[in-house]
Amino acid sequence: MELAPPRGTTDLLPPRSDRMRRLYDDAHRFATLYGYRYLETPAFEATELFSRTAGDSSDVVRKEMYSFQDKGGRTLTLRPEGTAPVVRAVVGAGSSASLPFKAYYVELMWRYGRPQKGRLREFRQFGVEVLGTEAPAADAETIVLGHEYLRRVGVKDVALEVNTLGDATCRPAYRKLLLEYLEAHRDRLRDEHRERFRENPLRVLDCTDEACRQVAAEAPKIADHLCDACREHFDGVLGSLDEEGLPWKRVDTLVRGLDYYVRTAYEYVSPALPEGQSSLGGGGRYDGLAEILGLPPTPGVGFALGLERILIALDAEGPRGEPRPRGVFVVTVGDAAASSARELVRELRRGGVPAQMAFEDRPLKAQFRMADRSGAAFAAVLGEREAEKDTVTLRRLADGREETVPRGAVVGKVSGSDV
Ligand code: HAM
Repeated sequence: MELAPPRGTTDLLPPRSDRMRRLYDDAHRFATLYGYRYLETPAFEATELFSRTAGDSSDVVRKEMYSFQDKGGRTLTLRPEGTAPVVRAVVGAGSSASLPFKAYYVELMWRYGRPQKGRLREFRQFGVEVLGTEAPAADAETIVLGHEYLRRVGVKDVALEVNTLGDATCRPAYRKLLLEYLEAHRDRLRDEHRERFRENPLRVLDCTDEACRQVAAEAPKIADHLCDACREHFDGVLGSLDEEGLPWKRVDTLVRGLDYYVRTAYEYVSPALPEGQSSLGGGGRYDGLAEILGLPPTPGVGFALGLERILIALDAEGPRGEPRPRGVFVVTVGDAAASSARELVRELRRGGVPAQMAFEDRPLKAQFRMADRSGAAFAAVLGEREAEKDTVTLRRLADGREETVPRGAVVGKVSGSDV
C-alpha cells in the first residue's frame, strides 16, 4: 500500500502545521478587524459553476479541474477557487443577505496541475469578497487588508501590482485591437498561444514565455482605451491606496488567470520567490459574475492568498526566531503527587494557561525530556517535598532557573509571565 500522500498533496505536521495554524488565526483576526464575516461553502460544486465563471480559456478550467461524476450521475468539481461559490451562496440566498456583504473564507482548494514547489493539487487559500458595491473604496479596502495581513504574518517584501482591465463598455473594442495586433505577430507566440489566442487574447499578455512577453510588451495597452467610467474608477482606487500610503506598481500586462475579472486586477508578488510562483495572492473586481450564474446583477471585488506560498516566501526570506515557548509541563515524583499534579493541570487550563503532563508514570529525567520537547515555557515539579510544604518548584526551561512557589500562586505566576 502506498503510504505517501497522493501526488500534489501534503501532510501538515508540526512544526509546519503550527505555522499554518498561525496563518489561519491571523486570517480570522484580520478579516474580523475589517468587518468581514466568516463563511464556508461545499468542497465540491456543480462543474458548471466553475466552467462558466472562470472561463473556458483559463488554465483552471482547461487543465486543472478535479471533476468527477457522483453515483447520481451529477458532474461535480472539487472547488478550485472560492469566488464563484461565495457569489452563488450569498447572492443566491436572495434578500436575506443584506448588501454590501463582506465575506471571508479560509479553505482548501484543488487544482490538477503539474505539482512543483508552490504549486500543489491541494492547497489553502484565505480569501475575502465584498458583494454589492461598485465603490472604488471597496477595491482599495480589500487591497489594503491583504497587504496588511501579509506584513503582519511576517512577509517582509511584498510588491503590490495593479491594473485595470476595463469593462463591458470599453473592453470589447480593446480586445478587437489586441486581436488584430496578435494576428499580425502570431508567428512570434509560443505554440499554445499561437493556436488559442483568439479565445482570450488578454491571456497572452501575462504569459511568462519570453517570446510571448516580447510580443506583449509592444501590444496596445488597455490604459489607452479605457472608457471614462473605468478610468474614473481606477483613479479612485489608486487615490485610496495613496491615501493609505500603500505603494503600488502599475503593470499593464497583469490580467490574472481567471476570466471573470473586470476593472481592477491586482497581485501581491514576493521577490523572494521564483517567477511563475511569485504570486502570494491576487484578486480583483468581478461585476458580471452573478449574472453569468443567472443571479441578479451584483458587483463584487476580492482576493485570495495562497497560504502555502506565504510559508514558502517566509522561508525564502530567511530564518526567523523560534516560536515562543508557551505553558507548563507538570512533572510529578511519586504516586502521592500524581493526583495533585492532575489537579494543577486542570487549574492551569481553567486559568487559560496551556498545561499538560505525562500519561504514564515515567522517570523524572524522561518527564523533563518530554517537557523540553513539548514547547512549554515552564516545568512545574510536584514531588513529596513540594507536597509536604504545599509548594511547586517552577523551572524555566529556557535557562533552567528554578524557584519555589506556593501551590496556590502557580497559575497567577505563570499567567503573568511569558506563557
Ligand atoms: P488565483 O490567482 O487563481 O485567484 O489564486 C490565488 C492564489 O492562490 C495564488 O496567487 C496562489 O498564491 C494560490 N494558488 C493558486 N493555485 C495554487 C496551487 N496550485 N498551489 C498552491 N497555491 C496556489 C483566485 O483563486 C481568485 N478566486 C481570487 C479572487 C477572490 N478574486 C476575486 N476574489
